[in-house]
Amino acid sequence: MDRTAQLISPSAERSIAYDPPGSPPSLHVRAAKVLEGNWTGASTVPSRGLYPHQWSWDSAFIAIGLRHLSPLRAQTELETLLAAQWGDGRVPHIVFNPSVPLDAYFPSPDFWRSSTAGRTAGAPRTVQTSGIVQPPVHALAAWLVHRADPGLSRARGFLARVYPRLAAWHRYLLHRRDLGGGGLASVVHPWEQGMDNSPAWDLPLARVTPAPARSFRRADLDHGAAEDRPTDLDYGRYVRLATDYRDGGYADGTGGFAVEDPAFNALLIASEHALARIAAELGAPGTARHARAERLTEALVERLWDPASGMFLCRDLRAPAPDGRGTLIPERGVSGLIPLLLPGLPRTIVSTLLRTASGPHFGLGTTTRLLPSYDLLGEAFDPHRYWRGPAWFNTAWLVERGLRTQGELQQADALRQSVLELAGATDFAEYVDPYTGEACGATGFSWTAALALDLLHGDTTVTADMELKGGNRR
Ligand code: SER
Repeated sequence: MDRTAQLISPSAERSIAYDPPGSPPSLHVRAAKVLEGNWTGASTVPSRGLYPHQWSWDSAFIAIGLRHLSPLRAQTELETLLAAQWGDGRVPHIVFNPSVPLDAYFPSPDFWRSSTAGRTAGAPRTVQTSGIVQPPVHALAAWLVHRADPGLSRARGFLARVYPRLAAWHRYLLHRRDLGGGGLASVVHPWEQGMDNSPAWDLPLARVTPAPARSFRRADLDHGAAEDRPTDLDYGRYVRLATDYRDGGYADGTGGFAVEDPAFNALLIASEHALARIAAELGAPGTARHARAERLTEALVERLWDPASGMFLCRDLRAPAPDGRGTLIPERGVSGLIPLLLPGLPRTIVSTLLRTASGPHFGLGTTTRLLPSYDLLGEAFDPHRYWRGPAWFNTAWLVERGLRTQGELQQADALRQSVLELAGATDFAEYVDPYTGEACGATGFSWTAALALDLLHGDTTVTADMELKGGNRR
């Protein structure tokens, strides 16, 4: 902890507001306790059992909630993650805690071998990490964390320290990961997009030869019900892709899986807008970054919008196609609604997305209690299996923000209310059945607690657009 910061800013450590004796603990207090329990001293684990290290996009969401409890801890969370950045700019999806036994999580550091296999790509020597990435929520998180306590942030030079790392991270994604040549970043493993087991990956994964089941031991089944987790066959394919990537020195461009995903790219664009705000705060003009974010929004529409589905789809770059552009994957996932976040989206697309969200495929505000991760009418829909139907709190948070960005304040308020009710009723579950709200996966899940806190504290009169582009309150 940075003592000077605490002296400079009395709000650096905001105390948890304790409830009066005899009253049930408030959602705020319960969420704060989850985050306190999952804090390791420099970062937060997603959950104590299933995910005992630091995860990249989890940390970004966690920082967004932590800023309401301790802006200093929120800054530290992001700084710890960014300290493990590779020389080529990638921010690894896991930063391993050396004091956790190797068999507590698979794939463990001895699988990824970052400091040897990743040497050419500039992996750090002093900390072990995975070699894949996760969605770039970090610049958006850094900007929101800064805004929670600008005095503390300036006193610690927070933005000045994270800006070069965030800029290098975006450069990596925009250059090394533009595998389709159309400006968008590709993911090279389903875990990179974060929605590991989405039915959108079934087609591209079917071309991957699974690693033999006896060649690895899953640790996730020690903590989660097998029928809720990915199958062994899918796991074999995840392991094959990661092994091939590692054995190629984590060089990009040749792997058997390459997909342009709408949520991953929408988050990159939102984070580009945030980087522009950060640059301006540091005294540099951010206009070039805003312009780039707008060009990327056009590329997103050009490459991933599917009018027939009424939403954005994933593009499978390895699918054989005569024009070499790959093909759109005909599966509706919540990922295709997340571009609602983008202020520059054409109005006709926004209206169509809103109709799709509340229509029979997602039932937002109609048939579901919380937005499902996958098409309610899709053949692969399963209300309990990891990313094949259950509702997740981070995607609900992103869509809530998207609705607010597009001026759909009533719908945003209703979604916010559902998140708060279900987060509290499920003891901050990892995910829930979208129809019944029944808890699935781990409880005491950090991003659920953090994002519930954020919505609890959010100033709903401030639109996401305003926060990204520096406009005025409505
Ligand atoms: N969520 C994936 C896992 O099982 C990848 O991070 O660990």
